[in-house]
Amino acid sequence: MLTAEQIQANWEEFCVNIHKYITAGRKEKLLAFYRKYEERIMIMPAAHKKEYHNSFPGGYVEHVNRVVRCAIKQCQLWEEEGADMTTFTVEELVFSAINHDLGKMGNEEHESYIPQTDKWRKDKLGEDYMFNKQVPFASVPDRGLFMLQSHGIRYTFNEMLAIQTHDGLYDEANSKYLKAFMPEQKPRTSLPFILHQADLMAARIEFEREWLPKFKNPVPTQAENFTLTKEAKKSTKDKALSQLESKGLKDLFDKL
Ligand SMILES: [Fe+2]
Repeated sequence: MLTAEQIQANWEEFCVNIHKYITAGRKEKLLAFYRKYEERIMIMPAAHKKEYHNSFPGGYVEHVNRVVRCAIKQCQLWEEEGADMTTFTVEELVFSAINHDLGKMGNEEHESYIPQTDKWRKDKLGEDYMFNKQVPFASVPDRGLFMLQSHGIRYTFNEMLAIQTHDGLYDEANSKYLKAFMPEQKPRTSLPFILHQADLMAARIEFEREWLPKFKNPVPTQAENFTLTKEAKKSTKDKALSQLESKGLKDLFDKL
């Protein structure tokens, strides 16, 4: 969990990246966009389940900032090893990193992730959030690109490709871009691979921080009375049957 001060500091880092790396014209539009949704995005989780990564208030911005930092560092590694760095710009790299998961915000009216209302799912499945059914389905990259274009924020072909394929081959839909065997069908830039590596690295680090300490502690044993006794089973069944009005249904369940 992050403190209010950490959430504020992360938001400042997020905005500084836009100021520093995005050129005039687009910068103002991007800042206006993020100011419009500031309250939502600042406290958004990066995922709805604890099993995923950064599923806590402020987790989204913390993750995005890490992806920006990892992308810049990965870029240096690729350059040192001989990748052609003339095929994309630093602005394209950072713009793609900043906006790669934007589709997680939902649409203009509604957030994608809202607090979980089902206590059982919250307690047993670690789902502190749930999907908001008011938001029609779209993949994260598709929704993110839609949100950008619907707010007049243009993106380059490289940025479109990087945002679209940032999940790499974890998303089958990316096969058409990333599994091509013909040289002319392969991406003409390493940008999508650099962004994917940065995202993978950030998510892995966030997983380790959340889960490795838990694995070091002994696993709690299941409560002894978890399994219903014969008597408890019978009274539960009788109670359930008494609530059924249909005789057919009653007979059916009575045989179970
Ligand atoms: Fe991500």
